[in-house]
Amino acid sequence: MPKKIAVFVGSLRKESYNRKMAKALPALAPESLKLEIIEIGGLPLYDQDLDDEGSPPAAWTAFREKIKPFDGILFVTPEYNRSVPGVLKNAIDVGSRPYGQSVWAGKPGAVMTVSPGAIGGFGANHHLRQSLVFLDVPAMQQPEAYIGGAGQLFDANGNVTNDSTRRFLKNFMDAFAAWVERNSVKNH
Ligand SMILES: Cc1cc2nc3c(=O)[nH]c(=O)nc-3n(C[C@H](O)[C@H](O)[C@H](O)COP(=O)(O)O)c2cc1C
Repeated sequence: MPKKIAVFVGSLRKESYNRKMAKALPALAPESLKLEIIEIGGLPLYDQDLDDEGSPPAAWTAFREKIKPFDGILFVTPEYNRSVPGVLKNAIDVGSRPYGQSVWAGKPGAVMTVSPGAIGGFGANHHLRQSLVFLDVPAMQQPEAYIGGAGQLFDANGNVTNDSTRRFLKNFMDAFAAWVERNSVKNH
């Protein structure tokens, strides 16, 4: 059985490079991984009162239930002001609560940042990793994926045009498949 991977894109932009990347990854991933993009743009901003009062928005509950059966998680995100875009941080916060019922704990994960800039979203990548430590998500260490120059990466159909980048991405997904396999013990 392939491992089911929930993919979270940290941009809501129609022409998002990160979404293009997330859509290009299944073709570059081994057959042992089945990737599915989970939409996060419709999640109301996290407000702990709603959980404490036992009346969480339906969108939060549906999101939490949706994530639970996945075997692993993959973040593909831009960097906003050297950190994680609010929309992605909100999704992470929603999934992490109510306290003790986090949907993230124990799921093997990986982080890829994609930016038109040269630094490739390094700041966001590492801010996100900081949250993953607290969330008990074993995050793949190597290879790191800071993808810069995103403006030149895709053709009109969203294919990754550059051979060396395609090789890198394939290698990243192979390593992630092995990482998920190795860290699957705590999966639900
Ligand atoms: C609010 C905001 C902050 C940004 N901050 C950064 C940044 O810190 N580093 C960076 O490389 N790009 C930054 N950018 C540029 C984004 O990398 C660029 O808009 C990119 O295309 C966003 O990813 P997307 O194409 O997936 O939407 C920022 C963009 C916005 C809208």
